[in-house]
Amino acid sequence: MKDYENVVIFDHPLIRHKIAILRDERTSMKEFRELVEEITTLMTYECLKDGVQTTEIEVKTPLETCTQTVVADNSVVIVPILRAGLGMVNGIHVLFPSARVGHIGMYRNEETLMPETYYCKLPEGIENKLVLVVDPMLATGGSASDAIRLLKEKGCKDIKFMAIIGAPQGVSKVAEDHPDVDIYVSTLDRGLNENGYILPGLGDAGDRLFGTK
Ligand code: PRP
Ligand code: URA
Repeated sequence: MKDYENVVIFDHPLIRHKIAILRDERTSMKEFRELVEEITTLMTYECLKDGVQTTEIEVKTPLETCTQTVVADNSVVIVPILRAGLGMVNGIHVLFPSARVGHIGMYRNEETLMPETYYCKLPEGIENKLVLVVDPMLATGGSASDAIRLLKEKGCKDIKFMAIIGAPQGVSKVAEDHPDVDIYVSTLDRGLNENGYILPGLGDAGDRLFGTK
């Protein structure tokens, strides 16, 4: 895959360790859900290093008063792409409890692999916030690219996207469709099978999170 200025691939040993367990078909639904949250928290720490609004407050220590920088309340909106993106929301809320949540519902047409949007509900004022779009799987990139386009149509200007596993095709598509969006992927896999599943991947993230199958 080409190098893109707007793409960060983590490849961090702690995240790689957790992803190895996540991929394992024997991992239980409970453990899968917990791992998705934990990996998301680790990613968020890095992803929100830049671009988060901060504000200064006065803090009185037992010795004196000092000026401290804190994260501005209500400055981030999390937008999970349903269903599987829901599994990442708590992992961000751990670090950012005041973040509001918008929802975009999309499913891939199993034959064409094209995303179809069935739901969109976003918090008021989202256009002035830092919007963190999340989905564990970035396969062809169709869902992520369309979700970001929809957010731009609603006026959002400051968007970041986080996925746990990416295929090169999907990363390239989102990076090229949206060069103004920072893309964070924990690990880059080999490619896609004929049904658009990431290889080696982890199977269907939504089914594993919610025990559908
Ligand atoms: C999965 C996944 C992404 C999408 C990725 O969702 O959670 O949203 O596929 O594929 P793409 O990059 O090729 O668009 P799916 O459509 O299976 O819906 P679900 O989360 O409801 O299972
Ligand atoms: N969606 C998933 O849940 N898994 C894949 O491998 C591709 C898309």
